[in-house]
Amino acid sequence: MTASDHEARPGGPPPRESRSEPREYASEPREIGSEFHWDPAVLLRAEQDGHLPAGHKLFATGCGAMSTLLRRLALPGRLHVPSFFCLGVAETLSADMPLAWYRHLPDDRGPRLATLTAVPGDVVLAQNLFGREDGAAWRDWIDTHPDVTVLEDHSHDPFGPWAGTSTAQYAVASLRKTLPLPDGGLLWSPRGLDVPGPVGEPAEGAHLKLAAMLLKAAWLDGRPIAKHAFRDLQQRGERTLLGSAAPPSAFTAAVLPVLDIAGLRAASTGNAQALTALLGVQRFVPPGAAPFRVQLLSPDEAERDALLRHLASHGIYAPVHWRQDRGSLWSGDEAAAALAARILTVPVDHRCTPTDVHRAAELLAPRLKSARSAASSSARRRVGPRGIGV
Ligand SMILES: Cc1ncc(COP(=O)(O)O)c(C=O)c1O
Repeated sequence: MTASDHEARPGGPPPRESRSEPREYASEPREIGSEFHWDPAVLLRAEQDGHLPAGHKLFATGCGAMSTLLRRLALPGRLHVPSFFCLGVAETLSADMPLAWYRHLPDDRGPRLATLTAVPGDVVLAQNLFGREDGAAWRDWIDTHPDVTVLEDHSHDPFGPWAGTSTAQYAVASLRKTLPLPDGGLLWSPRGLDVPGPVGEPAEGAHLKLAAMLLKAAWLDGRPIAKHAFRDLQQRGERTLLGSAAPPSAFTAAVLPVLDIAGLRAASTGNAQALTALLGVQRFVPPGAAPFRVQLLSPDEAERDALLRHLASHGIYAPVHWRQDRGSLWSGDEAAAALAARILTVPVDHRCTPTDVHRAAELLAPRLKSARSAASSSARRRVGPRGIGV
């Protein structure tokens, strides 16, 4: 889900992902992150073989695709959700199946399958968190639990090696996290099972979002467009689109087959690698995978929020994947909630130039340095590790 579009509403579901608000500054720097604009340069130059999975169905949203599948399967058990996951999505899916949680943290250790208590009749939601997992643990688990239905969520790297070699019954990917499209949720069965399709007419929200993307492109080009004009359209569009199980917009359906997905993945991977190299942080990425930006971990929530504000004041709009509010629907996993309070995503995607990546690194480096020295003094005091870097 795109960012600021899902502000918490009183009594409503938790935000899908939250990001500090872009503002209009007197002399605004080039923005990094924030919503995609439409740029025809992301299209292929020559026709290529289809890159979409065989037998897929395209929906307006990933959540709508998951919900439609769960309703079609109508299994009697529970939906097992990773404890570090988008709680807005979990809450939406809880209308289709009761939830259970298993531990999966953003710590490069993958899912803790010993905490997964799934039995036949249940569905397990497995995720490629931040596109940095190879799925090996899941392949083994699927082999040894043939009677449990597994639905993999590949939203963070929909065209990565795990998605391409999945052995799960079902897989889904929300497309507008990584591709400059107004909407799109892909549902397929790596096993070749039948998958349900969307219902109804394309959601109006995608049209509002497309209008926003076009206006933003004009704004970036220096045309006299007010920033709030496209941001309002964008946010209204996201609100209208939320959870839609309708077909995708005509625009997304037409553009998806001719998007230069390999080029977009290579550009965003290059930028994520460049930032981690400049910051001197280590990140595991399976061969051929496109990591979903760069996640950093602050010493605590106050410092994370201060860093978000600092970045935003320099035009870098870093989202938080994903806040966990213990007062509302949450995983019940203290470790996941604690990490959720400290994490942020530096949005170095395919749009960044080398100058943008350097600018992000220059802003972050002093924070990392002070976090590292605080970490080493706490280690000396035996308080335990802190510091930035998941
Ligand atoms: C990991 C993940 N999967 C699925 C979804 C649902 O996608 P959509 O916003 O297209 O409904 C989200 C939304 O935030 C997500 O973060």
